[in-house]
Amino acid sequence: GFDVSKLLKQTGTVTFDPGFMNTAATTSAITYIDGDQGILRYRGYPIEQLAKHSSFLETSYLLIYGELPTPTELENFDQRIRRHTLLHEDLKGFFGGFPRDAHPMPVLSSAVSALSTFYQDSLDPFDEEQVELSTVRLMAKLPVIAAYAHKKSIGQPMLYPDNSMNLVENFMRLSFGLPAEPYEIDPDLVKALDLLLILHADHEQNCSTSTVRLVGSSNANMFASVSAGISALFGPLHGGANEAVLNMLRDIQATGMQPETFMEKVKNKEDGVKLMGFGHRVYKNYDPRAKIVKATAHDILAKLGGNDELLDIAMRLEEKALADDYFIERKLYPNVDFYTGLIYKAMGFPEKMFTVLFAIGRLPGWIAQWREMMQDPQTKIGRPRQLYTGAPERNYPQR
Ligand code: ACO
Repeated sequence: GFDVSKLLKQTGTVTFDPGFMNTAATTSAITYIDGDQGILRYRGYPIEQLAKHSSFLETSYLLIYGELPTPTELENFDQRIRRHTLLHEDLKGFFGGFPRDAHPMPVLSSAVSALSTFYQDSLDPFDEEQVELSTVRLMAKLPVIAAYAHKKSIGQPMLYPDNSMNLVENFMRLSFGLPAEPYEIDPDLVKALDLLLILHADHEQNCSTSTVRLVGSSNANMFASVSAGISALFGPLHGGANEAVLNMLRDIQATGMQPETFMEKVKNKEDGVKLMGFGHRVYKNYDPRAKIVKATAHDILAKLGGNDELLDIAMRLEEKALADDYFIERKLYPNVDFYTGLIYKAMGFPEKMFTVLFAIGRLPGWIAQWREMMQDPQTKIGRPRQLYTGAPERNYPQR
């Protein structure tokens, strides 16, 4: 009930909170996290129950529209998405413009940004039908763009989407299928990816979601806002961590270093080395998503023939960390990214695609948060204050 701008004028006081450790920028009815207890719920439903019983498509519907769909609503949502998977041919030409070794994340953010140029009939953030259309377009096209970014980086031809398949099946086929060969869907693989996408689908006001909201707060369209979110996710302290974890495990394996030795380096903060996949701004307890991934990692790797040695290294690192005062004092536990990379790798994705997979998972969360913000009468343009520490007024030198 108080007027912040009035307070500022009266007292000249501002809250100094670098990294927004303690500043709520919005109200939200989408995701609930209790970081001390390790609880995560989407729209009230515990993540454990959704992981067990829901699908990525159904969870996306839940996040975006607020309630679980009826079977007919889910079928309609699925069909609408299937009908929008094709990319404009000119947009496909876009991929040829990047260097061959381009990282697929900036390719993804660029192509998603470019959707504003190709689909100009769905850019009005306050037109309900246009918002619906851009929602479905993004859900349908982002996984296709992601698969094409992958194909581009390995020099293989891009397939047309097959609309007899759902979103996750289609993505697998577009990522791994070849033109002349029929692609056999592996239900274990699809189920594993579906689960990981559910676990990533939303996480309240994290860095990329806050970015989507901040960009959207200027009334920027959904494509532009989500593209900015993808850029935020790219960083190694956020979505890029899953790729960094696998590189870290690989390095430990390749150098034959004992996990204990690596842990000493981390604790001494040698060269800024961190135990990637550990720690979280909000969770000061085991990340409930990491718990689910860890529980399934063994099963999935056994089925897919993953690298058990890397999993062993990961588990030894975790065991050491959980018993170490450095980690206990700082309440550092594995986050969702600690075990996911091993599974993505076993599925056949190169490291560069890991963060892209995170982006596919996070998409319904970004969309839901953007829509919630646009409908919220309290929304104002995001504009933090600062504490100026630069030079005082001085005169331009007369030469
Ligand atoms: N390894 C070693 N030490 C760590 C780690 C880690 N992974 N994470 C935090 N610490 C230490 C910090 O050095 C700091 O120690 P200090 O008090 O001696 O200076 C203390 O723990 C507090 O950490 P902060 O960095 O201040 O915590 P913050 O909330 O700002 O950062 C973050 C959270 C970015 C996730 C951090 O834990 C980190 O860098 N982790 C590794 C990267 C990672 O896994 N990111 C994925 C996050 S989850 C996601 O995006 C899905």
